[in-house]
Amino acid sequence: MSLLRLSSITAGYRGLQALRGVSLHTNEGEITALLGANGAGKTTTLNVICGLVPCQSGQIIFNDEDITGLPPERLVPKGLTQVPEGRQIFGDLTVRDNLLLGAYWRLRRHYKTEVDRDLQEVHALFPALSEAGQRRAGTLSGGQQQMLAIGRALMAAPRLLLLDEPSSGLAPKAVTEVFDKIAALRQRGTTILLVEQNVSAALQIADRGYVLEVGQVVLEGTSQELLANRDVRRAYLGKDYEEV
Ligand SMILES: Nc1ncnc2c1ncn2[C@@H]1O[C@H](COP(=O)(O)OP(=O)(O)OP(=O)(O)O)[C@@H](O)[C@H]1O
Ligand SMILES: [Mg+2]
Repeated sequence: MSLLRLSSITAGYRGLQALRGVSLHTNEGEITALLGANGAGKTTTLNVICGLVPCQSGQIIFNDEDITGLPPERLVPKGLTQVPEGRQIFGDLTVRDNLLLGAYWRLRRHYKTEVDRDLQEVHALFPALSEAGQRRAGTLSGGQQQMLAIGRALMAAPRLLLLDEPSSGLAPKAVTEVFDKIAALRQRGTTILLVEQNVSAALQIADRGYVLEVGQVVLEGTSQELLANRDVRRAYLGKDYEEV
């Protein structure tokens, strides 16, 4: 069953058509990869989904409900949360306070028991965040900050997690760790829409994927199909990439 479905979405910025009729869907419980070169429209797609960039035409259905045009504060309680490009954690706050901020809307509604339970779950998933609970978030390594950004998003209890370039700027070891954690989230049943420059690593953990070019979907398929596709291999995996 599809949890999110975009139909013919157009969106843009002053004088620039960034999305030119994007249609895609994510199946419940799966990881869907959204791939493409710099400026293809990946971040814009995520921002349209979570209400940060207005969509000019088209329709967005989430969990059988038309959510087109709803603002972020109405979408988060429905189960849509984004981990933004560049992480955007609060460096001066403690790790624990960063996590609790992710649960802000639920704390306001007095869902304290659920929030405590989810904090324990996030700590179980990311033990380093539990150990560093009282440290200033800005003192964490890049990899730990990415874990924190994901942990904070999980504290909003999402049904669909939008991840924008989680591996960007990380050392190779941290990249592997972040991808392992994303795979673990899928095992837990979280549905994920994953934007990545690291196409090979993304397709190894994803179920399906789309390739965006200049605001349009030019390819879609299962991860195996995309990994085997000649154009994908040439454009994103390097001509000599042979192991599939
Ligand atoms: N705030 C903005 N104002 C004006 N133009 C923008 C803005 N954000 C993005 N764009 C333009 O919209 C197009 C799509 O950008 P977008 O950020 O969605 O691409 P992307 O696929 O996420 O790229 P990257 O891999 O560099 O993150 C690009 O041409 C970009 O320059
Ligand atoms: Mg981007």
